[in-house]
Amino acid sequence: MNSTFRLAAAVSIASLGASLFPLTTLAADSKGSVEVVHWWTSGGEKAAVDVLKAQVEKDGFTWKDGAVAGGGGATAMTVLKSRAVAGNPPGVAQIKGPDIQDWAATGLLDPDVLKDVAKEEKWDTLLDKKVADTVKYDGDYVAVPVNIHRINWLWINPEVFKKAGIDKAPTTLDEFYVAADKLKAAGFIPLAHGGQPWQDSTVFESVVLAVMGVDGYKKALVDLDNSALTGPQMIKALTELKKVATYMDPDGKGQDWNLEAAKVINGKAGMQIMGDWAKSEWTLAKKTAGKDYQCVPFPGTDKAFLYNIDSLVVFKQNDEGTAAGQQAIARKVLGQDFQKVFSINKGSIPVRNDMLADMDKYGFDACAQTSARDFLADAKSGGLQPSMAHNMATTLAVQGAFFDVVTNYINDPQADPADAAKKLAAAIKAAQ
Ligand code: GAL
Repeated sequence: MNSTFRLAAAVSIASLGASLFPLTTLAADSKGSVEVVHWWTSGGEKAAVDVLKAQVEKDGFTWKDGAVAGGGGATAMTVLKSRAVAGNPPGVAQIKGPDIQDWAATGLLDPDVLKDVAKEEKWDTLLDKKVADTVKYDGDYVAVPVNIHRINWLWINPEVFKKAGIDKAPTTLDEFYVAADKLKAAGFIPLAHGGQPWQDSTVFESVVLAVMGVDGYKKALVDLDNSALTGPQMIKALTELKKVATYMDPDGKGQDWNLEAAKVINGKAGMQIMGDWAKSEWTLAKKTAGKDYQCVPFPGTDKAFLYNIDSLVVFKQNDEGTAAGQQAIARKVLGQDFQKVFSINKGSIPVRNDMLADMDKYGFDACAQTSARDFLADAKSGGLQPSMAHNMATTLAVQGAFFDVVTNYINDPQADPADAAKKLAAAIKAAQ
């Protein structure tokens, strides 16, 4: 059963119960109330989402925070599905990539509520077509894109590097291993890493990109081509992944990404492979990019950009106040002020074309400027590719198959890379 069908079957009952959506209780002076389900719960991310909350409340709406802890959003998605099945979806929820199409196909998203806002605010001109297409269903906006994250980053504490006798950031996998060995010898954790499936696959996809290049990444992780999934290049990528894993934090099993980021910030670890929401923790700790920490593309991936676009979808609701609140959120989200302040706190870059082209003007730091430059260049060269680990490349069912095989492979001391590649292809086929 394909995933659209699976999701549709699970929530079809909800459409019968649409009239049961509860009317929200409002403070007397509120223009409307909107619940927003999201998974931005680390300290730095909370600071970012609080920016939106404050702006929406300033406009007279009530923000009902539906934060669901759990990096990568798997828990939030489970909560959302069960709420949809119960006929009680929130007004707004963080959903990304192809999953937006699956949700829209269930009929639960609202293709009308954003029409006027999108037209008035000229979203079609403001946004890159790739970005706009992700959040449209049948030509209508069913979500507002919030920001762009890059996945293939390496975060470095330069002070720790210095203490370990490393004088420059690694640019190849071999240099990465040399640096990691020096960090280990000097008594540091070489690679901060939380052993949760989405974090394992975040590392996996960066390694695949380094070993297989952009074309190989696309064939294997986006097109799900069987020969690319089982071929010699994938076997090599899995072999390298196993080597990278030997440097991971031995206390990292099940650990949240932000607690691992803290180990690099506090000088216990030297590096972390993570998307640029990691920067939100550095920002919260009042550290400066390029001085207190370094962000470099994951070794061997400087000509590529694995992207991840956070988006907020709108669910059909049955009261005007909520619809007005949904529109207010959408208007704020694509406004220049929010785009700037949110991304500075979150570690991402704006989705607006005009801002991406002029990052200096808006006060973005060195990491964000590099990111925007690479995003625009890689969009032209084809190096811009959707992240598998962050719901942009495949359905959640296929992503789940990747997560299972990759995490089992990393944790099994006997695992064989050729065998793992075969398992990967088989699990993906079953999930399609
Ligand atoms: C990503 C999401 C980011 C960030 C990260 C860690 O999937 O797009 O905004 O929240 O997970 O939870």
